Amino acid sequence: MSTVGGEIFSVVRTDSQTLARCGILRTAHGIVHTPAFMPVGTQATIKGLLPHLVEGTGTEIILSNTYHLLLRPKPETVAALGGLHRFMGWHKPILTDSGGFQVFSLAQLTRIEERGAVFRSHLDGSLVELTPERAIEVQELLGSDIAMVLDHVVALPNERSVIEDAMERSLRWAERCQKAHQRKDQWLFGIVQGGLEPDLRLRCVEELVQMGFDGYAIGGLSVGEPPAEMYRILDVVAPSLPAERPRYLMGVGRPIDLLEAIARGVDLFDCVMPTRNGRNAMAFTEAGPLRMRNACHERDPRPMDPTCPCLACTFSRGYIRHLFMAREMLGPILVSLHNIAFYQRLLRQARAAIEAGSFGDFLEEKRATWSRTTM
Ligand code: GUN
Ligand code: ZN
Repeated sequence: MSTVGGEIFSVVRTDSQTLARCGILRTAHGIVHTPAFMPVGTQATIKGLLPHLVEGTGTEIILSNTYHLLLRPKPETVAALGGLHRFMGWHKPILTDSGGFQVFSLAQLTRIEERGAVFRSHLDGSLVELTPERAIEVQELLGSDIAMVLDHVVALPNERSVIEDAMERSLRWAERCQKAHQRKDQWLFGIVQGGLEPDLRLRCVEELVQMGFDGYAIGGLSVGEPPAEMYRILDVVAPSLPAERPRYLMGVGRPIDLLEAIARGVDLFDCVMPTRNGRNAMAFTEAGPLRMRNACHERDPRPMDPTCPCLACTFSRGYIRHLFMAREMLGPILVSLHNIAFYQRLLRQARAAIEAGSFGDFLEEKRATWSRTTM
């Protein structure tokens, strides 16, 4: 899509205490208020949740995965059924990840060549090749509103030369993705790599901005490094990106990580944490995490979070504990729903604090409340 400033994104307010900003992201399936959180629908479903339930949490955009849908049911099948929105019954914006990260985390990678990544499917062991051109073709067949370039992600910590080579390959692949990209109703985002090396990160930003993408993602983080290291990289990368383009921090993270990144100027997030933890009986609350299998909830009539307006919080902690003990499917459904509602309410509060010019105070308060927890 064309890269005229203001077409994809407008900054509506900037915080006076931090680098946080509120914005409007425009897509073919509607607008998104930023900072925004994308629940993860890897297999064309937010696990356990009907689309109207997800919408009811205030979710305006979701993420889905090229890697999974490429292997099953195949992007040509999704296209034959009207594209990803119609296929899954979600008619708001969708961002698709390119498969770069999943190839390195899920697949049994056989080799990485300049042409692309060759890997064994985690489903049937068959050999699959994912090139930059195919990653774009797949995302165009799916018809997502935002497509991501194919990138080369490496584990951290790693040798500088390995990180540098992967970053440079990611740049060459980004250029090939840009060349291959055709759809006028789909944005294409570049991905900044470069590990924990500030100079590599800045070189990557410079080259990507030179190429000119609709938005910019920060990848290769939240892969096991301490949170302070991630914040240090965000301090360098986020302000070096064009102010009038959306900034997306991939795969992050805990509630406090989102707020720390927002304070550094990030606009968009995705993470499996609310849904994965929810399936595992961990509920996020204002006061910290609750483990719903714990015996202390057995006769507790209170909702998981008394301040939460979600449907799951019309039930008692005792009931939800029972569902998990009895291995009933409604347990994971309710806690997943609650956790997404928790994340979306947190982002609404963050946007309101930015509007009020007091995001720094809001962040400080949350740091104090959650410092002794895993949130
Ligand atoms: N998801 C989380 N981190 C990454 C990343 O570095 N690249 C891609 N493509 N997806 C991600
Ligand atoms: Zn709730």
